[in-house]
Amino acid sequence: MKTPKRLEPLVDDGLIDEVLRPLMSGKEAAVFVVRCGDELRCAKVYKEAGRRSFKHAVAYQEGRKVRNSRDARAMARGSKYGRREQEEAWQNAEVAALFRLAQAGVRVPKPYDYVDGVLLMELVTDGEGDVAPRLNDVELHPDDAREFHAFMIGEIVKMLCAGLVHGDLSEFNVLLGPDGPVIIDLPQAVDAAGNNHAFAMLERDVGNMAAYFGQFAPELRYTRYAKEMWALYQAGELSPEAELTGQFAEPEDAADLEAVMREIKAALVEQERREAAREPQDDRDEPPPPPWMQQ
Ligand SMILES: Nc1ncnc2c1ncn2[C@@H]1O[C@H](COP(=O)(O)OP(=O)(O)O)[C@@H](O)[C@H]1O
Ligand SMILES: [Mg+2]
Repeated sequence: MKTPKRLEPLVDDGLIDEVLRPLMSGKEAAVFVVRCGDELRCAKVYKEAGRRSFKHAVAYQEGRKVRNSRDARAMARGSKYGRREQEEAWQNAEVAALFRLAQAGVRVPKPYDYVDGVLLMELVTDGEGDVAPRLNDVELHPDDAREFHAFMIGEIVKMLCAGLVHGDLSEFNVLLGPDGPVIIDLPQAVDAAGNNHAFAMLERDVGNMAAYFGQFAPELRYTRYAKEMWALYQAGELSPEAELTGQFAEPEDAADLEAVMREIKAALVEQERREAAREPQDDRDEPPPPPWMQQ
């Protein structure tokens, strides 16, 4: 195909030999299959600043490291410069996350380069040379669903051990390669330690996996991995080897909540009883009239 304008610099630099075909064009990026030497790769081209949605950027950015305080101030102000920096931090976040996760042994496409707002990475294929399907595109045997679910929980644990929560994990952002699931689409990955929303996002990611794989192996829907791994993570006891049960005993204070509710109910009953007993003496207990009536 004709080389799209945004990929021209990479062709000029010899990073890409040929652009073969578009793969997907979404809200935030367009993805192409490209040839580099005799290898097929994937080029993810991010939409330019200003054309992308910043709605959720603030929640995601929280806790993300910014290069220097001038950048941080500019981002906080939302100035034009700040917006550009924010955009860049956002895009780089996917690249940074990919490199960090590949390093940590998480199953992600191998990242090669990030040039002019284009990420060059491994093209995940299905083993026959075709682009790998997304989980959403396949039907699974219950045994495969159980195996892949367990694998994904392990990958989520590894990500958490590397300090990241995916933040948009779903059947649309996991490809099925010949060796099993591969995790993609990480621009919104959040810092597990520094972001107030990290646990909520982890719980949603884990819940999405339980719901998806639970279509094929219903018992998976009742697993409770997020709280279990988060409790270990917060205690500094999470490791990729951690053996999780998928069950989570609510901590003491949750049990206490029931006791509190019982006490509140008992107090209400007692109050009603007292009020009922007081009925005949209403006159005595009546509040004094307001000052403007006491003349
Ligand atoms: N490394 C890759 N290998 C194969 N296909 C990919 C790869 N990265 C992305 N894709 C395809 O492109 C689609 C969009 O990529 P994704 O990173 O999810 O971006 P977004 O959802 O933000 O548009 C994916 O659903 C997948 O089909
Ligand atoms: Mg996606």
